[in-house]
Formats: sequence, structure tokens, C-alpha cells
Amino acid sequence: MFSATLKRTSLALALSGFIAGSAYAAPEVLADFHQEMGDCSTCHVSKKGPTDDNLTHENQQCTSCHGTMDDMAAQDAEKKLKVSPHKSHLIGEIACTSCHKGHEKSVAYCDACHSFDFDLPFAGKWERKFVPIDVNKDAQEKAIAAGPRDTTDVVIVGSGGAGLAAAVSAHNNGAKVILLEKEPVAGGNTKLAAGGMNAAETQFQAKLGIKDKVSTMIDDTMKGGRNINDPALVKELAQNSSDSIDWLTSMGADMSDIGRMGGASVNRSHRPTGGAGVGAHVAQVLYNAAVKSGADIRLNSRVVRILEDAAGNVTGVLVEGKYTGYYVIKSKAVIMATGGFGKNNDRVAKYDPALKGFAATNHPGATGDGLDVALAAGADTRDLKYIQAHPTWSPVGGVMVTEAVRGNGAILVNREGKRFVNEITTRDKASAAILKQTGASAFLVFDDSVRKSLKKIENYIHLGIVTEGKTVKELAEKMNMPVPALEKTIASYNGFVKTGKDTEFARPNLPRDLVSAPYYAIEVKPAVHHSMGGLKIDTKAEVMNKKGSTIKGLFAAGEATGGVHGANRLGGNAISDIVTFGRIAGKSAAEFVKAK
Ligand code: FAD
Ligand code: FUM
Repeated sequence: MFSATLKRTSLALALSGFIAGSAYAAPEVLADFHQEMGDCSTCHVSKKGPTDDNLTHENQQCTSCHGTMDDMAAQDAEKKLKVSPHKSHLIGEIACTSCHKGHEKSVAYCDACHSFDFDLPFAGKWERKFVPIDVNKDAQEKAIAAGPRDTTDVVIVGSGGAGLAAAVSAHNNGAKVILLEKEPVAGGNTKLAAGGMNAAETQFQAKLGIKDKVSTMIDDTMKGGRNINDPALVKELAQNSSDSIDWLTSMGADMSDIGRMGGASVNRSHRPTGGAGVGAHVAQVLYNAAVKSGADIRLNSRVVRILEDAAGNVTGVLVEGKYTGYYVIKSKAVIMATGGFGKNNDRVAKYDPALKGFAATNHPGATGDGLDVALAAGADTRDLKYIQAHPTWSPVGGVMVTEAVRGNGAILVNREGKRFVNEITTRDKASAAILKQTGASAFLVFDDSVRKSLKKIENYIHLGIVTEGKTVKELAEKMNMPVPALEKTIASYNGFVKTGKDTEFARPNLPRDLVSAPYYAIEVKPAVHHSMGGLKIDTKAEVMNKKGSTIKGLFAAGEATGGVHGANRLGGNAISDIVTFGRIAGKSAAEFVKAK
């Protein structure tokens, strides 16, 4: 193996050769380029290529030459890059190969959601076609016939919050775990979650003097879900919510700040101090705990089939390793924690044609192939036609702007400079109201006191999606809005704050008046956000079949399931769902294995 210095020198020499355009043909991909420094063993263990789908050895080669992610981020800071591609809210140890590919065009992973346009060497454009689970049937059958490559107690599919919580909980209940994730980075939609995690009767609510009840959380959730939720699942969600906050806290999470989300009767949305994003934090805490518990976490590993014996008992899974091919893992239990399908617009439009062509707030892996895998194993589903649009997605930045901005005091105004809705109503109503406005979009308008109350807003400023005005007049001019109208709107809203009553739209929380300059605006419109429907489960997270009984050894949790949120999920209830039902699924699976 080259020493780091020798490698760096070779890299520089090779680069200068390319730049001079002398003896070399222009490289197409990174591997062409690196080949000039040696043979396949420059990157791989041997000529056979990668030995694991995490590309452990290959990533070590990258860092031994170029430095760690921290080193690269430090270089980005020296270059005064506005956004460092080597520092992000992605969780775990981000592999170099998540973006820098050897034998295909490199693509910046963050460009799947953002529009950073990084200058990546040998790069292509972000594009992703959905690949059905049953392609390459012959290769799949051959792998099944070859028998298991690995054996474990519980296989968990998906590395979002539900999967990671299940991994920790299964381990705590005595099970050995392999966790499979099809993406090159862990965390799913969970790592994007912003506003908070709902929980009632918590230690943190008590400290802040917030009076809440489990029964009120149940009522709010049922009402928000238009009463089609499974009441037993909702009860489980609310009753365990405070304990789930304590469980996260015991692992080092900071859930001490509390705000308001749409449809909630009181402040119960828990998040880190100062209103920082909840998802990346919770996912990182769970990821660290899962790693500490010894869970074998494999990225670039898509589960394409659940294997069952003749009696219908789960016996394992068929995995499609991106670099190592199809193989079987034998296990007594499988937990599907595969999330929703918001990023697959064909599937979204199949269930709700009104959402055809809509952008999505979701991560690229939210395509719904986990649903296909479970359906093929005989699972039943419910409520698939209920797909939520989040009202405030930024068409400029391609990112969702958290409901917490409204919860902390922002108002929604249209192009005419007028409010048009109770800003913290449920999402279905807020989205429908925005779509009715001129241009089918609206503006979140807030002042500096709202900005100071919520750390997450700094991210939006950093991303360049916020317009600033020293006065309301300047803001209105910059937004092309009639100045008197916006001034009147803000003055009358401030009057409502003073009297404690919004006589125009009956907004129930009026946390602060908008009087602290500068003023800010973000253009927003609805985008596909959450799959309310999914696999049918019982309160032990066991997956039901179409006959109404359980599939032995199959469990599911999180956005892959249906029933908890009914027809419309309340903001903050998904993180609560994935932590609580992830824990339940892990425990149930471990107990099932023990009893076998
Ligand atoms: P995910 O976190 O999506 O994880 C599922 C994982 O499974 C993914 O990594 C996926 O790649 C993987 N996978 C799928 N199929 C396969 C397969 N066949 N093989 C292997 N791996 C597979 N909710 C709140 O309560 N509060 C919030 O503040 C909040 N903010 C949000 C902000 C954004 C931008 C988004 C998109 C969502 C937000 N939500 C929020 C919703 C919430 O984040 C999600 O519903 C929740 O995190 C889903 O968790 P999960 O573990 O079920 O799925
Ligand atoms: O707006 C948000 O922060 C999103 C919350 C959620 O989806 O629950």
C-alpha cells in the first residue's frame, strides 16, 4: 500500500499529467484517474473488487490519501465555501463513496434535495430511476439456492429512526441484529425531521409549566387524522410518548425545548435547546446507540424479498448488495422499517392523482419498495390513499421549512400582502389554502424575534432562501407586495397578539408580536411529505396478513405502517411514532426469537 505522502505526490503528478493533457486520455470516472497511480489494489483489497457493501476498505484508502471528512471540511472553510459538502446533517460516519464513485459518474448526494451545484470531479447529474424489487429474477433464485451467507436473530430493514430504535431495543432485549439500508447514507427521512417530537405529560413540559394530558394527545391525533386512525395504536403512541422522550434522553438526546405544531392543543413538540432540528439529532443518538450495541449496519444493501417457509414463518431476507450482489441472511424475525414513498411520484399519483407532478420534501430512498417487499410476503395494508402535502416547502431551496417557524410566530401571507388562514391549522387545511392563492404559493413572514427563537431558521438563512427587509416596507417592496397591505396585515396581527384573540382566522397560539426589525420572508408552497398509509400492524408491531392474522416473525414500524395517523398526520407525531413503535417492534421481535 502507498504511504499517504507517496499517494499525495502520485495524485499531484497524475493530476498535472491530466491537466497538461499529455500522455493521458481524459478520465471518465474516478477509477480511470486512480488507475494511473497503480492497479485495482490502489482502492480495493484485490482485483476482485469490494468485499463489503459499506466499501470499508475503499473509504479507508480515500481518507488515507485525502484526509478525513473533518480534514476536508477544514479545507472547505479555508476556501471560504459558503456550504461545505463535507459537513452536513447526514448521520453516522459519512463515507467518501456516498458521493465519489469509482466506476460510475460521481454525484453529490445532497443535491438530491438541495441545489448546491458543487464542483465535484468526474461528476454527473443527480437522477434516480425506481428499480422494481423483482428485476434479475434468475440471479435472485441462484442466490437463494446458494443458501445463507449470514445468520442472525433479527434483520431490520431501514436505517431511519424506526429501524435504529428497533435495533437498540432488540439488542436490549437480547437479540443479535443485522440492519440493512439501501442508501449510501443512514437516517432516511428521519435525519431531515425539523420541528419536533410530540409527547404528553413529559418532565420537560412539567419544567416549563405546560399542562398536557395523554388523553388530549389522543384526542388531537384522532381529530387531526379525521378519526379514521386505529384507536389502539394512537393510545399506544400517546401513552408511551413521555417514556420515549426519557429513553432518548437516557442515551444523551437533548429534547428540552418545546414548541407548538399544527393541530395540537398545547405545546408538546420536543426538540433540542433553542429549537434546533430534531431529526438529525435523534437519528445520530440512535445510530450511536445502535453501533455501540454491536448492530451490524450495512449500507448500499437493499432487501428485495422476505423469505418464508412452507408454513408461512419468516426465515430471513434476500439482499441486493450494490457491490457484492444478491445474498441471503437467515433470521427468525424481520422488522420492516422502510419508511414512506413520498419521493416516488408515480406511486404517490397512483394513490392520490391530485398530487401528480408535486415536488417532495423526502430523502431519495423514500420510494416504497419496502411496501412491495412486504406485500409479496402476504402483508395487508391500509389507508394508502392518504398522502400528506407539507404546506411550506421552499421552491427556491428545495427544502421544507419547518412548521415550527409558524409555531413560534410567523404568519402566512399571499401575494396581495394578506393573511388567509389560521397558520397553525392542520396541514391538509393549510396546504389547501395556499394552493388557492395567486400563484399557488405564499410567503412566511416573520421578524427578528422569531428568528432568535428558533435555531433552525439560521439554516434557511444559510441556504439563501430568506429575503430580508430593514422595515416592513422594504420587505414588501423586495417581495413585490403592496406595501400598505402588508403593513396593515402585520399591524392588525400585532393587535390580535395584544388582545390574545385572532378575530380573523382564530389562530389559537399568538406567541409574539412582529415588531423587531429586520423582517424576513420565505416563499413557500405545498410538497408531498408523508405517507399516512402502509402496512397493517397490531399494538405489538406485528404485521397482519389479508386474513386478519399475524405473519409469524414479521414486524413493522414507522412510516412504512398505516393506522397511527389516520387520514392526516399531526406535525411532530411521526418522530413520536418511530421511536415508540421502533422500540416496540425491537422488543416484540427479540421476544419472538427467544420464544422460538
Ligand atoms: P425513514 O427515516 O425514512 O427510514 C426508512 C429507511 O429505509 C430509509 O433510509 C430507506 O432508504 C430505507 N429503505 C427503504 N426500503 C428499503 C429496502 N427495500 N431495503 C433497505 N432499506 C430500505 N416528523 C415529525 O414528527 N417531526 C418533524 O419535525 C418532522 N420533520 C420532517 C421533515 C422532513 C423534511 C421530512 C421529510 C419528514 C419530517 N417528519 C417529521 C416525518 C418523519 O421524519 C418521518 O415520517 C420519519 O422520520 C420516518 O421514519 P422511518 O424510520 O419510518 O423512515
Ligand atoms: O414542519 C415540520 O417541522 C415537519 C414536521 C412533521 O412532519 O411532523
